[in-house]
Amino acid sequence: MAVLVDGRKLSSTILEEVASKATELREKSSVVPTLAAVLVGEDGASVSYVRQKEKACERAGLRSVTVRLPESVTEGELLARIDGLNRDRSVHGIIVQLPLPRGMDVERVVSAVAPDKDVDGFHPLNLGLVMRGTPGLMPCTPAAVCVILDSLGIPLAGLRAVIVGRSLIVGRPLSCLLLQRDLTVTVCHTRTRDLADEVSRADVVVAAAGRAGLVRGEWIKPGAVVIDVGTNPTPSGLIGDVEFAAAAERAGYITPVPGGVGPLTVAMLLKNVVSASTSCGMPRCP
Ligand code: GUN
Repeated sequence: MAVLVDGRKLSSTILEEVASKATELREKSSVVPTLAAVLVGEDGASVSYVRQKEKACERAGLRSVTVRLPESVTEGELLARIDGLNRDRSVHGIIVQLPLPRGMDVERVVSAVAPDKDVDGFHPLNLGLVMRGTPGLMPCTPAAVCVILDSLGIPLAGLRAVIVGRSLIVGRPLSCLLLQRDLTVTVCHTRTRDLADEVSRADVVVAAAGRAGLVRGEWIKPGAVVIDVGTNPTPSGLIGDVEFAAAAERAGYITPVPGGVGPLTVAMLLKNVVSASTSCGMPRCP
């Protein structure tokens, strides 16, 4: 039976560090690290994610401001609001909650956030730095997966990792971070020919496809580390991309949903806000 990885406990350790750094900044330089969240429309999941981020900021002594825009906002108006936040010296981190209304150019919007305030790590410059192995502001979910792996205290070099999902938010940047840790990485996706075969050879499985129960328990190699990034709403609550009970029978370590990657992702976001408030956020700040 697998060891359950407690994401809430790991996240509270990181949030304590964030809170003490925020206190130090406030006392020494009167800076209050500030996150601006831009929420377009009223998608239920997005509203709840933004609320979670606001609450986490409040608990850690960070300031948060939420810019709420109607679903009908034009792309030009949204870009103008982002430009205003880029110029606002009291704002250190900016996130634009995704998804955006249909018809908006996500690439253009994400690229409009100043790279040194891009605490989601979605800007092409920050993604490029991840690929180079000199990350600036780290993409939060991939960083959360790395915190979990590092917490296990097992040697990672040479392990076979299979990432299920090739999104720009998780799968692709995570593949770079795992390569950096010397794992041998395979990224699977909707056109992968035999997903069961790929997963069954993995020492580390990261499920980030956004499809409930896609990764079957019987595919898991005995003793493998299983990290479930999925958050799929069902009438009985959130479930992950991994068939949890069956996978837990075989895995060495497994993350639950909820209570695994999710809380850590929020902690990594707040860590980025503090980091953006203390430097330009780039690896070599001039
Ligand atoms: N929508 C789903 N996940 C995320 C995230 O990590 N950041 C933002 N901005 N939007 C999201």
